[in-house]
Amino acid sequence: MKKIIIANWKMNPFSAKEAEYILNGVKKTAAKLKKTQTVICPPFIYFNNLRKIIGKSTILFLGAQNSFWEIEGAFTGEVSPEMIKNSGGSYVILGHSERRALGESDEMVSKKTLVCLKTGLKTVVCIGEKVRDEQGDYLAFLKNEIRNSLNKVQKRFLRNLIIAYEPIWAIGKKDAEAMLPADIHETVIYIKKVLSEIYGQESALAVPILYGGSVGGKNAGEIIKDGGVNGLLVGHQSLKPENFNEILRSVENI
Ligand code: PGA
Repeated sequence: MKKIIIANWKMNPFSAKEAEYILNGVKKTAAKLKKTQTVICPPFIYFNNLRKIIGKSTILFLGAQNSFWEIEGAFTGEVSPEMIKNSGGSYVILGHSERRALGESDEMVSKKTLVCLKTGLKTVVCIGEKVRDEQGDYLAFLKNEIRNSLNKVQKRFLRNLIIAYEPIWAIGKKDAEAMLPADIHETVIYIKKVLSEIYGQESALAVPILYGGSVGGKNAGEIIKDGGVNGLLVGHQSLKPENFNEILRSVENI
């Protein structure tokens, strides 16, 4: 399985011109990779510009940072999975902690996940605890978040599901403050166990698991090597082409 590196640009950059500049700076490196696929998730408004730059690449893809759970209709301000697909998107990030902080519930994430999977989008469902308490309550929190966020998703839709584990306390910091690879590995095993309880071991083990939270050029390689993950979700370090390229190269060279 190819490693999946997803750039979550969040609400950046300011202009389409800058968005094109970042993508152009990444495209050459990403296009050369054999074992790593790259997904760029910009704000929707830049989709069309970036789609033209990506063209028909089979190694560099476009993704959305959110989707609604209906296909069309009177839902002001929303964007549907069909629209994402028809605009060149093949991935979608759902339930990011920054959206959950704005009021997105597990129930909403679950509805969105099902519709996006049915539409055929590679659907990245984000989970992650706010804090790591010593009693280990965060494990029960994670279990609940996984179960509830996938509540509507039956086994037959799993093929395009990806889980991104993003501990909220590790997001938006320096590389050195990311979670340690050994701790990531332990949590990934736990996530696989929870998925196995829901879907059975064989189906659960086929679901790629990504890590996100302060990934940069210095730690990307070791997180992939020792963290037991199939890829990375990269936030602020994906906005500078040279930094993001360093991440891509270090993952490819493992
Ligand atoms: P970060 O963000 O890389 O800036 O920590 C990751 C994310 O929120 O997806």
